[in-house]
Amino acid sequence: MSRHTADVNVLVTAGPTREPIDPVRFLTNRSSGKMGYELAAAFARAGHRVLLVSGPTSLDIPDHVDFIPVESAADMQQAVGQHLQRMDVAVFAAAVADYTPANVADQKIKKTGDTLTLELVKTPDILGSARSQFGFAGTLVGFAAETEHLEQHARTKLERKGCDLIIANDVSKPGIGFDSDRNEVLLVYPDASEPMPEASKHDLAHQLVQAILELHLSKAAGGG
Ligand code: PMT
Repeated sequence: MSRHTADVNVLVTAGPTREPIDPVRFLTNRSSGKMGYELAAAFARAGHRVLLVSGPTSLDIPDHVDFIPVESAADMQQAVGQHLQRMDVAVFAAAVADYTPANVADQKIKKTGDTLTLELVKTPDILGSARSQFGFAGTLVGFAAETEHLEQHARTKLERKGCDLIIANDVSKPGIGFDSDRNEVLLVYPDASEPMPEASKHDLAHQLVQAILELHLSKAAGGG
């Protein structure tokens, strides 16, 4: 495979983001980073140049992968924006917060009342900016974490964000998805969809890399 797709530059996002509330607190989610790290490692094993942009995780950085650690959605947007133009393929596996506190308190918030209301504002949609803001013309792959209407919601994201492929996972299913070693996904292309049965994230990443490189080749040949 790598013989036919040499010199592919791949950007992968992974992990959760941390949205600061005050100097000691943040909003985050259950992403472990495993899916994105396995993808980055599988691309590197196949001989490609990989840049992994990751939110905070407890995982080791895969071998032969360039690495940019980030914290918030805004940090991730900045790192992706800086490097996306020179990429051939971009895969967005990160679980980016959709909202962030409108204001970050300078000091630790004191426990003064019985309730506390936080005002949240939308974060930048990094995947959604790839085409429109960063002018990325390569093969664009997003994920969709859904709890219902998997294919329908994934297809909406595919169209709205200008992707070539959305990898959809049903994160309401026990044993797969967030913070699990296993996953089961539906590949949603503009004119087709294809299920990939449950497997370890390690094995699944290998299959996903093959599917993504095939898609990239067909797009480069004018077929996508
Ligand atoms: O990290 P693990 O524990 O291994 O779990 C893997 C996973 C469940 C996190 C992964 O398989 C997955 O589904 N990642 C995407 C999670 C997500 O945030 O999905 P979404 O449907 O909310 O977002 C759709 C796409 O837009 C994603 O590619 C996401 O990276 C991207 N996005 C979302 C919001 C935002 N502000 N910027 C983005 O780029």
